[in-house]
Parts: sequence; structure tokens; C-alpha cells
Amino acid sequence: MDIERTKHGGSEAFQKLDDDPRWREIFKGYAFSIDYREERGHAYMLSDQDMTERLKAVKQPGACLHCHSAVLPAYRQAGIAAGLPAEEAHRQEQIMKGFEIVCAMPYEEARKLVSHPVSCGDCHHPETVQLRVQRPGFLNGLRALAASNEPLPHLPSIERWRSEGRKGEYDVNAMATRQEMRSFVCGQCHVEYYFKGEGAVKISDHHVRSPLLNVSNACQTCHHFSEAEIKARAEAIQDRTRALMVRAEEAVLALIKDIESRQVAGTPSEQLKASQELQRKAQWRLDFVAAENSMGFHAPQETARVLAEAIDYARQGQLAALRVGSLE
Ligand code: HEC
Ligand code: HEC
Ligand code: HEC
Ligand code: HEC
Repeated sequence: MDIERTKHGGSEAFQKLDDDPRWREIFKGYAFSIDYREERGHAYMLSDQDMTERLKAVKQPGACLHCHSAVLPAYRQAGIAAGLPAEEAHRQEQIMKGFEIVCAMPYEEARKLVSHPVSCGDCHHPETVQLRVQRPGFLNGLRALAASNEPLPHLPSIERWRSEGRKGEYDVNAMATRQEMRSFVCGQCHVEYYFKGEGAVKISDHHVRSPLLNVSNACQTCHHFSEAEIKARAEAIQDRTRALMVRAEEAVLALIKDIESRQVAGTPSEQLKASQELQRKAQWRLDFVAAENSMGFHAPQETARVLAEAIDYARQGQLAALRVGSLE
């Protein structure tokens, strides 16, 4: 079953906006303020999208399907229909062209072109079963990253291509290591995330759901103590992270209220710019943790750092608002 809840998430599509109503306020103006649920397993990715109020209440583009369906055959067909040669040798060009066309369609129209959630061919070559990545957004992004001068010690194949004189274009499918490919196939869709560490262990479970629902497979390959103890330790980290996250939410909400009350009192908008900049910085960091789904697990220090910055920026924003006029 992929619909079980864990203490801080899991695989049940519960309404996060009811679980923590502060988010209705923080997301106001975004479609996320209407419906924002806990994500669940891969089998549901297409049906959950069909059901979300974010699609019903707001006009959305075909681009939504990019990470929620086995969309590549539809891209190829659209590319061929737009005039590209139909041969296999032109596969990647067909995909690139079709990507532009299908993403720009209204959602309802594009939806007719797909029928399955992510499928084997999204991650594997059908004959060799080797891992491959073909999603245009990911390929473009990775190529741009390779071409930059950003230090990438965690991506050895790019470092190698650079040190050998950057010949031709960086070709991820030809050059990436097996280890890198294990993360890249997921990064095609999980783009706000960077998967590291667990790449060292072979994926032998294609049943994608919260790992805390499957501690023996997901954890005991590395941690040799009892299931109950592993779970308790993970939850202790998550409880503390959650408490810090709620403090960050309160801080952002307090800043929103301060800005709002000054707007109502007629403070000129340019005087509120500094506070709004700080709101943006605080909200960005809070969102990063809230949307990331692990509630601090396996990277508690990094999560705490990001939340500490969010709280600091929000409180700085309040101080800036205080400087531009008292309300009484
Ligand atoms: C085609 C895009 C796509 C690819 C590729 C992809 N995912 Fe996902 N993944 C999603 C979507 C969309 C959801 C949310 C589905 C929902 O909530 O209905 C999701 C959900 C998840 C979840 C949450 C499960 C739960 O029940 O809470 C995990 C864990 C996950 N993916 C891991 C992975 C891993 C590991 C890989 C690579 C081996 C991967 N994903 C590759 C799109 C993708
Ligand atoms: C770049 C990839 C990507 C695109 C594009 C994308 N999604 Fe998702 N979506 C994901 C991933 C990954 C998850 C699961 C992880 C998470 O919740 O952060 C997810 C989760 C969801 C969920 C389940 C949880 C929730 O938020 O309620 C819904 C519904 C959803 N997406 C709808 C949409 C809609 C509507 C669009 C277009 C506006 C869209 N997605 C575009 C990757 C994507
Ligand atoms: C989201 C990406 C993704 C999808 C979709 C996916 N796989 Fe995999 N698969 C992987 C990864 C990652 C590995 C691990 C490869 C490695 O260890 O180098 C893997 C491994 C395998 C293996 C090797 C088994 C093993 O344990 O060593 C087989 C066989 C396989 N997949 C078949 C399939 C089939 C059949 C489907 C469709 C029903 C499928 N995969 C769908 C990502 C995916
Ligand atoms: C690929 C190996 C690997 C897997 C799989 C793995 N862990 Fe870990 N885990 C580690 C390593 C290495 C550390 C130590 C990290 C550090 O000290 O910074 C760690 C740290 C921890 C910690 C904090 C230290 C402690 O012992 O209290 C907890 C809790 C934890 N893991 C739980 C889990 C759970 C739950 C799972 C399954 C969902 C899991 N781990 C899967 C390697 C792994």
C-alpha cells in the first residue's frame, strides 16, 4: 500500500493546508494556497495530478505532465508531426522539439497524449536496461552546469570532461559514471533536490514510497540496529526539525502581518521594499525545507542552518518595517 502515513509525512495524500493552516496565509496568491498535499508513491503521480484543485481552479499548461507521466513518446510524436525525420537517429531532436510544443499546450489538450505514470523507458534503455536520461529540462540544465565554472567535486564525470579540455559538449549518457546516473534518473523530476549518499547502495526496490514505511530494506543495509530504534532516532530528528520549522513559519507570518498593516496605514510602497526583499529571502528558505519532504532527516544540520537563516531574515524584515513608521 502507498497510502500510509508516517509521523511527519509518509505516503498518504493528507491536506497539508489543514495540517498546518499557516501555509494558507504564507501561500496566499499562489495555487498552492488552494490545495497542497503530502506527496505519495510513483503509481499515483498522474492520478494525483488529475485530482488536485490546483489544476481545476487555475489554467495550467501541458508542462505539468513533464514530471508526472511517461511523456517522452508524446514528445517524439509531436516532434515528428512538426516535421522532424521519423528515424530513431533523430530521437533526441524529436524529444526536444516535442517538449516545446507539448509543454505550451493547455493541460487538458496535452493530457490526452499520455496515459501512464513514469515507466521503465524513462530511466532505462529498453534493450540494454542501462540507465539513461532524456528529459530536455534536465539535459539542458546539466549541460549549462557543465559549461559553467561552478566547482563540482560531487560530479566527477564533469570535472573530468573539463580537465580534458571541454571537448565537444558534455554528454551525460555517454560520460556519467554509473553512480552519477543512479542520482540523475531521479533528478530528471526531483529537481529541487540533490540526491547524495544513498547512491552507494544498489536500488533493488522499485516500489517508490516513503522509506520510513520500509525500514528493513531502506535502512538496515547500512544501520545494523533494530527497526524500532532506527525509526525512533529518525523521528526524534524530525520532531526537532518540525518545531524549528514552525518557529520559522511564525516568524514569516509575523513579518507578513507587519508589512500588511503598514500598507493599510498608507506607508509608501518604496519604503516597504527592504522588508519585502527580506520576506522573499525568508520565505524561499522556509519553502525549501517544507517542500523537501524529509523533515530534516539525514541532513539535520543543513536543515537547521536553512531554517535559522529564514528566522533571521524574517525578524530583520520586521525590524526594517519598524524603522519606516510606527502605526500609532
Ligand atoms: C517522471 C518523473 C519522476 C522520476 C524520474 C522520479 N520521480 Fe519520484 N516522484 C515523482 C512525482 C510526481 C512524485 C509524487 C507523486 C504523487 O504524489 O502522486 C514522486 C514521489 C516520490 C517519492 C515519495 C513517495 C511517497 O509515497 O511519499 C519518493 C521517495 C520518490 N519519488 C523517489 C524517487 C527516486 C528515488 C527516483 C529515482 C530512482 C525518482 N523518484 C524518480 C516524479 C518522479
Ligand atoms: C520538474 C518536475 C515537476 C513538474 C514540472 C511538476 N511537478 Fe508536480 N511534483 C513533482 C515532484 C517531484 C513531486 C513530489 C515531491 C514533492 O511533493 O515535492 C510532485 C508532486 C505533485 C503533487 C502531489 C503533492 C501536492 O503538491 O499536492 C501534485 C498534485 C502535483 N505535483 C501537481 C503538479 C501540477 C499541477 C504541475 C504543473 C503546474 C506540476 N505538478 C508540475 C515534480 C513536478
Ligand atoms: C525512476 C527511474 C526508474 C524507473 C522508472 C525504472 N527503473 Fe529500473 N532501475 C532504476 C535504477 C536507478 C536502478 C539501479 C541501477 C544500478 O544499480 O546501477 C534500476 C535497476 C533495475 C534493474 C536491475 C535490477 C537490480 O536490482 O540490479 C532492472 C532489471 C530494472 N531496473 C528494470 C526495470 C523495469 C522493468 C522497469 C519498469 C517496470 C523499471 N526498471 C523502471 C531506475 C528506474
Ligand atoms: C547508504 C547508507 C545509509 C542508508 C541506506 C541509511 N543511512 Fe542513516 N546514516 C548513514 C550514515 C553514513 C549516517 C551518519 C551521517 C553523519 O554522521 O553525518 C547516518 C545517520 C543516520 C541517523 C543519525 C545518527 C543516529 O544514529 O542517530 C539516523 C537516525 C539514521 N541515519 C536513520 C536512517 C533511516 C531511518 C534510514 C532508512 C530510511 C537510513 N538511516 C538509511 C547511512 C545510511
